[in-house]
Amino acid sequence: MPDNGASQGTIQKVGVVGCGLMGSGIVQVSAVAGRQVLVHEADATALEKGLGRIRGSLEKLCSKEKISAELRDRSLASIHTAETLEELSDCDLIVEAVVEDLAVKLDLFGKLGRIAGPRAILASNTSSYPITELAAACGRPDRTVGLHFFNPVPLMKLVEVVKTGETDDSVVQTVREFARSLDKTPIEASDTPGFVVNRLLVPYMLEAIRMLERGDATKEDIDTGMMLGCGHPMGPLTLMDYVGLDTCLFIAEGWHERFPENPLFDPPELLRQKVAAGELGRKTGLGIYRWEGDKKA
Ligand code: CAA
Ligand code: NAD
Repeated sequence: MPDNGASQGTIQKVGVVGCGLMGSGIVQVSAVAGRQVLVHEADATALEKGLGRIRGSLEKLCSKEKISAELRDRSLASIHTAETLEELSDCDLIVEAVVEDLAVKLDLFGKLGRIAGPRAILASNTSSYPITELAAACGRPDRTVGLHFFNPVPLMKLVEVVKTGETDDSVVQTVREFARSLDKTPIEASDTPGFVVNRLLVPYMLEAIRMLERGDATKEDIDTGMMLGCGHPMGPLTLMDYVGLDTCLFIAEGWHERFPENPLFDPPELLRQKVAAGELGRKTGLGIYRWEGDKKA
């Protein structure tokens, strides 16, 4: 775990937009690494849930002696909520972690371009959309970068840093240092669909749900197959529930629209049905599996 008295480089104040599964994790790890954090969330219930998730996670890490009680309390004290986006205007880095909907992200980046300070770095945690389009929407392509964390953020060690043709090299260096200060390992990726990890992971997860749809194997056997056969910590169908079926569908639909000729990106019918029924995975208690809190029932 990073020590929150450690050197903070040029990023001292972090703004996070969206306090869902990912935003809450990004807030948490930034606070633990000694940053002042301001979080803006559009939905009051989601904000409460997100802050509760942060408290629960810090408590768990503390009870396992991964962080001290003092660091837990200091981290919680450095997290503040912003009722308006404008309150993020003096942040050195603003990380967007709102729903995977391009229209919402473009609108938000337009606003961020108008309110952020001139030296601020604007970053997106998008799983699948081109950073280049978000960079154009905010009008600051040199200061926009992809900063893609993995779920669950407090535990996963990777951060993808996505550079467009126009991102300034110094911005890439600054966010790489920022990621390292969070005790993460940054890798650099080009602005291609899914960057490195999701370009491989998403077609794999979509094929798993197609196998289930065809009746090739049970959900349990598909997951056990990949856990015991390939040493994955969780099978692809459990992982889809973990990520959120709505997020998986948003990614598939976005890619299918742009690349209709690629069958790997076709959104499976069963995925559409689950999302239409509000069965979004772990976060709603029902998805491919039934969940009780954080555990499969
Ligand atoms: N904060 C603190 N502690 C946490 C936690 C959190 N958010 N989540 C889990 N833990 C703790 C658990 O309490 C548990 O503690 P104990 O050992 O004391 O019981 C410990 O971590 C291990 O957790 P679990 O027992 O639940 O299960 P596990 O051993 O399988 O580990 C896991 C959990 C690290 C998530 C592991 O299953 C794993 O690595 N799964 C794969 C995750 C993955 O692939 N993520 C990428 C998703 S794709 C993505 O993020 C990109 C995208 O754009 C969609
Ligand atoms: P989520 O549904 O848990 O959270 C999204 C949050 O954004 C919601 O709480 C929603 O109220 C909020 N929001 C929507 N519009 C907003 C706005 N205009 N301003 C402020 N808040 C707004 O989703 P998530 O899983 O946290 O995903 C967030 C982003 O991270 C997406 O781009 C997703 O693709 C990406 N991502 C997700 C995962 C994952 O495993 N779930 C992993 C890596 C990256």
